Parts: sequence; C-alpha cells; structure tokens
Amino acid sequence: MRLLVTGAKGQLGEELTRVLKSGRADIGPVNARWADVEFLRTDVVSDDASETLALDITEAADVDAFIAEHALDWVINCAAATNVDGCEADAELAHRLNADGPANLARACEAMGTRLLHVSTDYVLAGDDPLPQAEDAVPHPKTVYGKTKLEGERLVTTLAPSSVVVRTAWLYGSRGKNFVYTMSRLGRERGRVRVVDDQHGSPTNANDLAWEILEIMAWADEVGDAAAGIWHATGSGTTTWDAFARKIFELEGLSCEVEGVSTEEWGAPAPRPAWSVLDNRRLRETIGDGMRPWDVALESFVVEEGLRA
Ligand SMILES: NC(=O)c1ccc[n+]([C@@H]2O[C@H](COP(=O)([O-])OP(=O)(O)OC[C@H]3O[C@@H](n4cnc5c(N)ncnc54)[C@H](OP(=O)(O)O)[C@@H]3O)[C@@H](O)[C@H]2O)c1
Repeated sequence: MRLLVTGAKGQLGEELTRVLKSGRADIGPVNARWADVEFLRTDVVSDDASETLALDITEAADVDAFIAEHALDWVINCAAATNVDGCEADAELAHRLNADGPANLARACEAMGTRLLHVSTDYVLAGDDPLPQAEDAVPHPKTVYGKTKLEGERLVTTLAPSSVVVRTAWLYGSRGKNFVYTMSRLGRERGRVRVVDDQHGSPTNANDLAWEILEIMAWADEVGDAAAGIWHATGSGTTTWDAFARKIFELEGLSCEVEGVSTEEWGAPAPRPAWSVLDNRRLRETIGDGMRPWDVALESFVVEEGLRA
C-alpha cells in the first residue's frame, strides 16, 4: 500500500504522519491494513527535515505528474485555505485552494485508479439548526471559506465518484495554530480572557481524526464505492468556545477566568455558525463511531503535549 498525504505540514497532515509512522494513535493501534504502508508527504513548500516533498495542489500539471509517477493507492488531501477571515479577504485564493486544488487531485486520481480522501468542514452547512446535522443535511454555506469548501466537495465527488469526503470541525492538533494552544498561552499570560459563548460545536482532536480516517479508508478498501461520498467525523458531545476554554484551563491547572462574550460583540469579519454540531451518523451505522467524547480527547491531548502547569 502506498499513500500520499497532501498539506502534510498542517495540523491534520502532521497528525496523520505521526500516526502512520508509529502505527498507533492515542485511541489505539491503527487499522492493520496500514501496518506496512509506505507513505509520502507533500506540502506547498518542501522541507528536508520532515521529508516533505513540494506539491502545490493548485498546479494541475504538477499534480498529474506526481500522481502518475508514484503509483499511489490513496491520496489524503489535507491541503486547504483554512483561515476563515482570510478567505473572506481573498476569495480568489480560497477558491484556488479549496475548489480548484481538490479538483486537480480528483482528476489525477481518477485517471490513475488512485482513491481520494478529501477533508472538508462543518462550514458547508448554514450552522443555524440546533440539532446535530448528519451527512444528508442540505448544505448552505454563509462564508467564502464554506462556499469554496462546498465547491471542492462537489468537484471531488463528481470528478472521482469513488472519493471519500470527511467533514470535521473545531480541529486542534500538536502542530499549527489552534484554539487549545492559543488558550494555553493566554491562560499563562493573563488572569482573564474573553471568549465567545454563543457558538456550539464539537472539538476534534486531530490525532483521533487521523485514526478514524484510516479506519474509514480500510473499510472503503473492503466495500468499494459503498464508502464513497460524505462522512462526518468530529469529537463526540457538544460545547461552546467559552466552556471549551474553561475545560482547557481546568485540565492544564491554570487559574484564568473566562468572560463570555456574544458573537456580535466579538465582531469577526466572516460570519460564524451558531450551531456547528455534526452527527457522525454514517460512522455509527457502518464501522462504528470511534471518536472519543471531546473532553476525554482533550485531556489526552493535554497529557500527551505536556501542557499541565
Ligand atoms: N482547522 C479547523 O478547525 C478545521 C475545521 C474543519 C475542517 N477543517 C478542514 O480540515 C483540513 C485540514 O485542516 P488543518 O487545520 O490541518 O489545516 P492547516 O493546518 O491550515 O493545513 C493546511 C496545509 O495546506 C497547505 N497548503 C496551502 N496551500 C497549499 C497548496 N497550494 N498546495 C499544497 N498545500 C497547501 C498549508 O501550507 P501553508 O501553511 O504553508 O499555507 C498547510 O500546511 C482542511 O481541509 C480544513 O478545511 C479544519
């Protein structure tokens, strides 16, 4: 088996690399199918230290050549423009990365008989329904990020119909900028922080998601096209950003007060969904939902990363 992880220097890409290299995640060993897997990692810039090759997913000819050359079984696409406000400011770049790039990968994969797992987001949904949203919920993105990610999903599933699309939300991992690290830093620097208290979602440990993605792929190899299309995979349970921050401080042993503020008071440039709760229904109804409760996965992250004060 030979896999490619694109966007490998991002949060999820790094976590997938760690999990594939060690053969285990915090949840447990990875699916036996990946025991002797060979994998390549690419990002927009190469890096000798982490053996990352350069592959810009927006360059169609480079993508075609790379995928043709390496005889891959799977490509896991973690490359994306993920800065929600940044996408609003540069819609053209967001479109290139979140729609054109995945389309290039899908076309090249389809031509070579390589299967594609593409990662997407809760932002493709409107985010105003308080009920957990399953895979068949009608998408209605309100941001440039969400619109371009939805276009990416649609291009991938049209151009390479056997592709698997995994939507996640509120992701944090050991590399990159994320809410847990931001709160960890602020909790050490300040006695009080202001955090939005009216947005609901499910924090997702990237290590758990990496493990679950490999489970979905192993099952997809068994059942073929029956695994194609959209999957939801987020940590189980629901919280708000302010409660998430309080849990981080509690687990890290920091005495920092959290003052809740409304989304309106916070005033981010791009609208944020009030309800980002995904229902991992397809996982539950097929291979089982291995995603841990969000607070258990967070505790494991705090311990693994040595974040306890
Ligand atoms: N983060 C979240 O909370 C969240 C929530 C829901 C869904 N998701 C989805 O999960 C996936 C992974 O997210 P993440 O948080 O791991 O993202 P991330 O940390 O922003 O990583 C994305 C990676 O893609 C790279 N990249 C940018 N342009 C590229 C190009 N043209 N070609 C190849 N690589 C390129 C980035 O490199 P540079 O850093 O050098 O630009 C970065 O290493 C994305 O599909 C995202 O939409 C994320």
